[in-house]
Amino acid sequence: MKKKKILVIDNDREFLQGMTELLEGHGHTTVAVTDVLASLDVLVEYTPEIIFIDLLLPRIGGDDFCRILRNIDYLRTCYIVILSGIAAEQQFDFQVLGANACIAKSPFKIMSEHILEVIRASEGPLPPGNIVEVMGLDSCHFRQVTKDLLSKNKSLKTILESMSQGIIEIYGRRVVYANSRALSFLALPFEKVLGAYIADIFPDHVWNKISSLLEGDRHDDMTEEHYVPVRIHERHILVHLLLVMEQKNCQIMLLSDVTEIRKMESVVEATNLTDKLGYIFSGIRHEIGNPVNSIKVALSVLQKNLATYDRATVAEFLDRSLIEVARIEYLLKALKNYSLFESPDIQRFRIDTFMENFVPLVREDFAKRKVDLKVMCADDARWILADPRALHQVLLNLLTNAADAIDGREDGRIIISIMKSDRWVEIKVDDNGHGISEADQKNLFRPFFTSKKNGTGLGLVIVRKMLRQMHGRINVTSYKGFGATVTIAIPEAEQDGRVF
Ligand SMILES: Nc1ncnc2c1ncn2[C@@H]1O[C@H](COP(=O)(O)OP(=O)(O)OP(=O)(O)O)[C@@H](O)[C@H]1O
Ligand SMILES: [Mg+2]
Repeated sequence: MKKKKILVIDNDREFLQGMTELLEGHGHTTVAVTDVLASLDVLVEYTPEIIFIDLLLPRIGGDDFCRILRNIDYLRTCYIVILSGIAAEQQFDFQVLGANACIAKSPFKIMSEHILEVIRASEGPLPPGNIVEVMGLDSCHFRQVTKDLLSKNKSLKTILESMSQGIIEIYGRRVVYANSRALSFLALPFEKVLGAYIADIFPDHVWNKISSLLEGDRHDDMTEEHYVPVRIHERHILVHLLLVMEQKNCQIMLLSDVTEIRKMESVVEATNLTDKLGYIFSGIRHEIGNPVNSIKVALSVLQKNLATYDRATVAEFLDRSLIEVARIEYLLKALKNYSLFESPDIQRFRIDTFMENFVPLVREDFAKRKVDLKVMCADDARWILADPRALHQVLLNLLTNAADAIDGREDGRIIISIMKSDRWVEIKVDDNGHGISEADQKNLFRPFFTSKKNGTGLGLVIVRKMLRQMHGRINVTSYKGFGATVTIAIPEAEQDGRVF
């Protein structure tokens, strides 16, 4: 018999030893390894003429190995013999696997005869369409446990294959399993992915982003999860790594396709934005259009009658126009305020000191409007984190609204009370004005919503924007006819400067 170059892959070390002794005893060159990944390393430099492989191996099984092998050009004609310990429990389509022979695992003595017989047969022409019957099946025992495990394995594989997520199992940086979905994301065939280094199956730009997931020794923290968004072949994929309990070298990579979700999100975003823009433009058109119209009417009447009008009437028309100009100016100022504090300068300061400076600035104006202004500040409400200029603007807007609501009342009063609530400092502006109807309360924060003749309806919009930027909150409660209470909450700062 011609001496052969042989590779044996089996996870049973005792069996490997027996095989090596048997084969070398007959003068064949033999390399024996315990798993498929190790065999792939061997195959880089060693080209066997015959490969004996166990069907049931950890990580990559003998059946998958056959598929990889038949895809490697220089091994296409290699004679593959499957050694099966489960031949009695499971039927295989050897044609699909591309195997040339199958030997059922039985006592080594009986088996060795089959092994030598197969080596002899390998010299002849390859059997057409490959196999053949399983050799040694009569001395092989049927085991219920194996059958149950195999059927469980099949069910699990079916589940994995039907999942919408891509699943890649990695062992020591190499791919030992990838479901169809993962293969379709990668646009690679099974044979190219299995056994490959994980870094090689992703495009470079993707690998650069996800390599950190696998780096470092994260194995101590089994509950840690990592997500990285990437784009693979025009799809938005979320890559997520799972560590497998008690298996240090094993990781599962999940690939979730979020392309459709991203598309929907951007559509929703775009529609929202366009809706809002349309709404805002129509508001501005309305706000500026009205005064411009009035000015136009006033000026054309004046132009037509300039020769006949006396000085007092001319002055009256000019006054009317200037009032309208002032209205536009007011709107422009409000719009400016909206973008004034785009990036707030958040500082730690005392709210009581701030109020001591703020109240005198407005008290006189409110006194003129016959509004009584009271401020109460609890002792424990002290340090806050806010932009003082923005807070000034916020309070001014709230007080102006309160004063407007009171307008005309003899006993008008506004009470500002400041107190600590949890980790916030709350500032309540309470008035006894006309209040806000339930229906109007829903619209308070809509741009241009106003019940006032000269209001812009931007005051509360600006207030809310500024508060958001300062990580604050606002709440309005009111009963029509019984005044309104606007409460704003500002994050508290600790006395020693530590931020909550
Ligand atoms: N304290 C309050 N009492 C009663 N109604 C209020 C109060 N605060 C706000 N509102 C109602 O909410 C509306 C919107 O207020 P907002 O401050 O946003 O705009 P505005 O006051 O109408 O206009 P601007 O602030 O630009 O002068 C007011 O027109 C008013 O109807
Ligand atoms: Mg206002």
